[in-house]
Amino acid sequence: MKRKVLSTILAASMVATMAVGCGGGNSAQTDAPAADAGTEAPAAADQEGGKIGVAMPTQSSERWIKDGDNMKEKLEALGYEVDLQYAEDDVQMQVSQIENMIASGSQCLVIAAVDAGALTTVEAQAKEAGIPIIAYDRLLMDTDAVSYYASFDNEGVGTAIGEYVKTAKDLDAAREAGESYTIEFFMGSPDDNNAVLLHKGVMGVLQEYLDDGTLVCKTGRTSFEDTCILRWSQETAQQWCENYLTGFYADEDLDIACTAFDGFAYGVKAALQGAGYTADNWPLITGQDAELMACKNILDGTQTASIFKNTSLLADKCVTMVEAVMKGAEPEINDTTTYDNNVVVVPSYLCTPISVDKDNLQEVVVEEAKYYTAEELGL
Ligand code: GAL
Repeated sequence: MKRKVLSTILAASMVATMAVGCGGGNSAQTDAPAADAGTEAPAAADQEGGKIGVAMPTQSSERWIKDGDNMKEKLEALGYEVDLQYAEDDVQMQVSQIENMIASGSQCLVIAAVDAGALTTVEAQAKEAGIPIIAYDRLLMDTDAVSYYASFDNEGVGTAIGEYVKTAKDLDAAREAGESYTIEFFMGSPDDNNAVLLHKGVMGVLQEYLDDGTLVCKTGRTSFEDTCILRWSQETAQQWCENYLTGFYADEDLDIACTAFDGFAYGVKAALQGAGYTADNWPLITGQDAELMACKNILDGTQTASIFKNTSLLADKCVTMVEAVMKGAEPEINDTTTYDNNVVVVPSYLCTPISVDKDNLQEVVVEEAKYYTAEELGL
């Protein structure tokens, strides 16, 4: 299989903000039954302040540190006391942390799970104690104890990644010309519902090109089961990529590394450098989260694209949900049908992810969102 001439010009649509989802743009107040997922009014309703437990999965990636900081700052500004805990990707540690939050008087819990289905017992304890739970970014599965869900359009993230690859490589032109690109997939954790949806979104765009041979996956690993990486491990992504490069790609370059997370993109970058790839044959590498390091890599060309998810906006939405369950008000939600956790369909607010690459990074992340300063990015 011959390598193709790279299409270096991205379509204008690629640099534009990609409106992917947000409940089809409908952000109207919901008339769905609020907080009917099994929680009673908390004991502290109508009181000022109160204690909120915020359980975050790990400090190993920058985004969760930002998420935790944002939540703490915004809740404290409203007069709440915040118990912020990180579980360092240890399921049992997260269970213990949440048990402690319940025991020490938290009146509402905000949880970004390490393993979305592993918290059912402690969630039932919270429900029993009349403590409402809000799922933060990752849906809490198999429980009726969750009141609301604040996240991004997770299938939309996958669609945006797939569309980026399609446009950047001009797959339709390649198909016309009978050319092909090699591609490998590095997908998210099997215990994270976001990862399943992301893969669905990616394949919704790219499957047809795999089917007709415009994209060639030499390992044959395209299904979610074959490409998911437990706990979003950067090390595993690097290991996989090293194995691929010395095996399947010993005699032919890898053209596209379709990854679901900036951490994977870092692992892939290290593997490529170890295998002697240079700017001349560097593949297209996608990611997710637009972490500071990813943005720097995008600017220096060692990562091609990422998906910007403004965690400050996410925290804002989540805080309105906390306020609602604490005060008996109704938060704004924009999706009442998508997020079925196997027990209840959780009323959700989905923020819009934005595809970024070197052409729009400064505009989207620095100028519009003021997420990083130009200085931080070395601009
Ligand atoms: C997912 C989230 C991604 C990424 C990943 C690894 O749940 O949707 O944005 O942060 O976790 O942390």
